[in-house]
Amino acid sequence: MTANGVAGEAPPIVDLRSDTVTRPGPAMRRAIAEAEVGDDLLGDDPTVERLEARVAEILGKEASLFFPSGVMANQTALATHGVWGTEVVVEADAHVLHWEEGAAAALSGLQLRPVEGVDGALEPSALAAAIRPDSKYVPRTSLVCLENTHLASGGSVVSPEATDAAAEVARGCGLPVHLDGARLWHAAVATGRPVTDFTRSADTVMVALSKGLGAPVGSMLAGPGEFMDRAWRVRRRLGGAMRQSGLLAAAGLYALEHHRERLAEDHENARSLAVALNALPGVHAPEPPTNVVLATSEKDGPDLRNLLNFLEKHGILMLPFGDRTIRGVTHHDVDAASIQRVTGILAAWAPV
Ligand SMILES: Cc1ncc(COP(=O)(O)O)c(C=O)c1O
Repeated sequence: MTANGVAGEAPPIVDLRSDTVTRPGPAMRRAIAEAEVGDDLLGDDPTVERLEARVAEILGKEASLFFPSGVMANQTALATHGVWGTEVVVEADAHVLHWEEGAAAALSGLQLRPVEGVDGALEPSALAAAIRPDSKYVPRTSLVCLENTHLASGGSVVSPEATDAAAEVARGCGLPVHLDGARLWHAAVATGRPVTDFTRSADTVMVALSKGLGAPVGSMLAGPGEFMDRAWRVRRRLGGAMRQSGLLAAAGLYALEHHRERLAEDHENARSLAVALNALPGVHAPEPPTNVVLATSEKDGPDLRNLLNFLEKHGILMLPFGDRTIRGVTHHDVDAASIQRVTGILAAWAPV
């Protein structure tokens, strides 16, 4: 496709709306086509089994399960850990709170208790203050949910030490910890730390295959074997058990083995994009820690909706992210040359 929909007349669209927009390339499609499959609900799809074993190994957990989406994997974790009518402590801008359709309340009778974090990290003292005391006059707390990288703060990395500190507070109160690690791969690559450093103190972890890693579908939930047996039933209840899902698992396996290390390129491209956005008058775009670029119009700064329209006319897609902020997310299908084209076009923007 081209920017004006006419083949050959304009350069290809640069789609920076999200890292979920990637299309499988020829090698991934071959892996899908050649996948050995069975009926996963009946427990005999060998490719799904391979994916689940591999993800459990990478994350340092006993077992993992393949899900159609990150929301379903997160909500299965919440439903399995949580107790009806209790609270889950979450960071105030967490995905589970703002972008999962009220699922924790609607599906599991859980109330989410938001706590202001620092770049996505829950400070131990703030977390401790949010965990309810043992009193019959207030709800009980049943779970602490963390997010890494933290989307709303621009793909911030929460360090393994900050994760450990939050988990220690939770554990001290007898509470389990779930980690929404949709983009945990980015945290590992950005810091050069093994992914297990980030997962070691969480009881359960969700990771996505369909975001930075570029698989068409799928997220994983990993945790202790006994927990995952109970999660299997919740996934079934939510309609997330699949059949010849080895076709999708094959794409996930391919992405895990071939697309993790290259996330460093996405981070580099994100930094270049932020520099170009930050150079616009009245626009602030901090250096991104990973692949999410946020650009905010300063007080009396330009209307960034105008910038989004301008970019769209040039075949460059980004999204509004709140009132005065726009976001661009780099990914597998956007190379350095495309980012260079974007930065050139940004330099030509004249705010009205
Ligand atoms: C941090 C985070 N968690 C969970 C999800 C949900 O994933 P999905 O869209 O696959 O359901 C997303 C989606 O973007 C996300 O960014």
